[in-house]
Amino acid sequence: MPGLLLGDVFPDFEAETTTGKIKFHEYLGDSWGILFSHPKDYTPVCTTELGRAARLSEEFSKRKVKMIALSIDCLEDHHGWTKDILAYNCEESACSSLPFPIIADYKRELAVALGMLDPDEKDKDGMPLTARCVFIIGPDKKLKLSLLYPATTGRNFDEILRVVDSLQLTSGKRVATPVDWKPGDCVMVPPSMSEEEAASLFPDGVYTKDLPSGKKYLRYTPWP
Ligand code: BEZ
Repeated sequence: MPGLLLGDVFPDFEAETTTGKIKFHEYLGDSWGILFSHPKDYTPVCTTELGRAARLSEEFSKRKVKMIALSIDCLEDHHGWTKDILAYNCEESACSSLPFPIIADYKRELAVALGMLDPDEKDKDGMPLTARCVFIIGPDKKLKLSLLYPATTGRNFDEILRVVDSLQLTSGKRVATPVDWKPGDCVMVPPSMSEEEAASLFPDGVYTKDLPSGKKYLRYTPWP
């Protein structure tokens, strides 16, 4: 059974969070959204990830991306754990709260509905924990990107920011971003675009790499 697919409208769930009850679409408003899940409160890798996410929150805000975390424990645990996250990750008294809410999915309802459980990681009662999922949702509420890491592998939030930059660029312009791309680098002309169209759409020029096949598909143009 396929789970959520790219282009699907993201479910408009209701949830309890550390900042109150939310309806997801209302919470997002007309922003982009990123929902990232965590296996369990009071766990080491998650503590480092949430701290990094908090430190990058201004970068996400600049890009009009609303962040929200999820973990399968109750609000009381989330509030207690938040103090540890802040103590571990912030300069003394530099921050008093996380800059995004954490969903309390203590019944694992969202974890199941969104296909986020990691079959290899169980809690002490044998219940599966959540994997490290990342969902990036566009202002149209459609799923633009999903990542799924096992509980034992922490994510790279610089990479998540990088893919937001690519998603936002490619949602407005008919270009694609190559390997390891970052803002300012050249972008690629999509294979479906004819040479004539590319010439008129990219007045700064299109550079085509000669290849043994003779096919002219490796086309770069300066960052728009
Ligand atoms: C962690 O966040 O450290 C963690 C959680 C579940 C399994 C392994 C590591």
